[in-house]
Amino acid sequence: MPDYIYLLENRLSPAQRNAVEQVRQAAMHAGMTVFLAGGAVRDLTSGFPVRDLDFSVQGNALKLKKALEKAGGELWGEHEETRTLFFWFPGSIRVEVSSARREEYPKPGKPVYHWSTMLEDLRRRDFTVNAMAISLNEGSYGLLLDPLNGIADMEARHLRLVNNYGFLEDPSRMIRVTRLAARTGWEMDERTRARYDNAREEGIAAMSDWLRGYELEEIGHEEDALKILKALEAEGWMQQLFPAWTAAKADAAALEELHRIYVKLLMQGVHPDLSAAQMRLLTAKLAPKEFASLKKLLPCPGFVQQWEHLDDAAKEFSVKLTAKETSTPSATWKLIANYQPEPVLWLAFTSKSAPVQTRFKNFFEVWPEARQKIPTVLMAEMRITADLPEYGHLLNELFFALIDGKLETEEAMRAFLEPYSPPAPPPPVTIRRSRSRRAPKVEVEEEESPDIVMPSGYDEDDESGHEDEDEHEDHHADEDADEEEEEHAPAKPSRAAKTAKPEAQSAPKPADKAVKPAAPAVHKAEQKAEPKPAAKAAKPAPAKAAKPVAAPAAKPAPKPAAKKAAPAPAKKAAKPAPAKAAKPVAKKASKPAAKPVAKKVAPKPAAKPAAKKPPAKPAAKPAAKKKR
Ligand code: CTP
Repeated sequence: MPDYIYLLENRLSPAQRNAVEQVRQAAMHAGMTVFLAGGAVRDLTSGFPVRDLDFSVQGNALKLKKALEKAGGELWGEHEETRTLFFWFPGSIRVEVSSARREEYPKPGKPVYHWSTMLEDLRRRDFTVNAMAISLNEGSYGLLLDPLNGIADMEARHLRLVNNYGFLEDPSRMIRVTRLAARTGWEMDERTRARYDNAREEGIAAMSDWLRGYELEEIGHEEDALKILKALEAEGWMQQLFPAWTAAKADAAALEELHRIYVKLLMQGVHPDLSAAQMRLLTAKLAPKEFASLKKLLPCPGFVQQWEHLDDAAKEFSVKLTAKETSTPSATWKLIANYQPEPVLWLAFTSKSAPVQTRFKNFFEVWPEARQKIPTVLMAEMRITADLPEYGHLLNELFFALIDGKLETEEAMRAFLEPYSPPAPPPPVTIRRSRSRRAPKVEVEEEESPDIVMPSGYDEDDESGHEDEDEHEDHHADEDADEEEEEHAPAKPSRAAKTAKPEAQSAPKPADKAVKPAAPAVHKAEQKAEPKPAAKAAKPAPAKAAKPVAAPAAKPAPKPAAKKAAPAPAKKAAKPAPAKAAKPVAKKASKPAAKPVAKKVAPKPAAKPAAKKPPAKPAAKPAAKKKR
């Protein structure tokens, strides 16, 4: 099920949305419930371009005439019997507003109308795909009314009669189904086809003149009108509708050319309604008398006027187009893009004047190439990106400046773009918890904690989280481990090597890194107890001095020292320390001592960072060496 609020917002053009809003407002002010209905809903749902907007109101639509004229609509025609208004809204939007009604047919082609609700109105319509409506009312905006399951028929590409007697009661529906099938490629379902074949024999004699004119006008509103005319002719309907009007009376070559220009205009963002121009060419070879009587039949005098006024409107436009004020390319562009599109189309199609032709050639072929010159790289460099609010405006201005030849050099381009360039963002702030900090802790810890007996005891506690229970058992194990560690001097020698001895230089890089961070680590670890000395200990030389200070403090009361004095930091510090010092010891070391090494040392922090951020190393090494 499509989301109709989304479709209304995204499938309709801004001009169509404006027309919807104007009709909605007018109906609401008049206290009428209003729906978008018929072909507009069909096209919205099926993905075809929405050609015109049909509205139905519960109430007398004729009462909306003034409000809609005020809202910018030009009244094209009205039909009192069905209480229907025909408007032409800004942006070339055809609008039909009718009153919801029920239809009874005491005689074929002679309906009697009963004003009704929208649901009843949908049941009097021609085909199920046309019997759908979308509410535009507050509280139910976007709600689809589809009592006859038109969506399913649309998916099946079926044209299905709403009423079994549809063709007999209103013969214009046979013309409509032919037109719709030729346009969409959809087909009548089996039953509808059978009814069509039966009703066809009856012909359209019962059809009212008004409906006759209505269907004739609809031919002109088709996008590929000649194709429709041919389809109607092939079914024999033109013979009954208006015998003088056949495909042979149309100027086929001119229609093709008109369509070519139409597409070119569309490509440059100009959207004319083809109807009036097409009508001229579709009837090009009709005798004047026939032509006049055809015009009389059409239900919208406004449309006929537009059609008749085409030449004059094009002339007016031609004068403006070739005036001095529009001598620059950008002025010409703006004029063509913002003028009423129908005279633009007609002039582009009919004019033989060289200056006019040149302007259109430039508009269609030459100037659009300037879009390739939009300096996207430079713009990105100047931080001018699509998310800037004025980006669209800038692109237009840039385009105009380019076609006017004002931006020939890079300097000129930069100067033009400069006002749009936002200031550079502040440099990114990276908050880095370098491992170097952790590593240092390790080192300091190693120097101090081994003596203090911190590593194993505190480590186990921290991991398990059961301070008291595990403490006792672990403690014994730790003691053993500590003893072993103490015995296996290799751990210490390695530390010593880092700090002073010449062999230290052969020590692996990580050791060096660890040295530097040692300062902060110690710092943290000892902050609570002895902040300053700890800081000193960070330095290589003072580190030695730190040992004795820390060791005595820890040994007498190892646990308290580990837990209270340096809880969190001590933990981290412990990891790296074993990594370096433990390797050689590993084989001999007891389990408790090995655990922390395996779990915490190798993993993420120690290894990865060191590898990823080489700059840290150089910074650390020299510092350490020099101090030493
Ligand atoms: N309608 C009908 N019987 C007719 C004429 C019109 O039931 N003889 C209903 C259809 O529901 C139709 C709606 O009125 O959808 C509007 O009519 P119209 O604008 O002529 O047709 P659309 O369906 O809008 O198709 P098109 O795209 O040809 O304009």
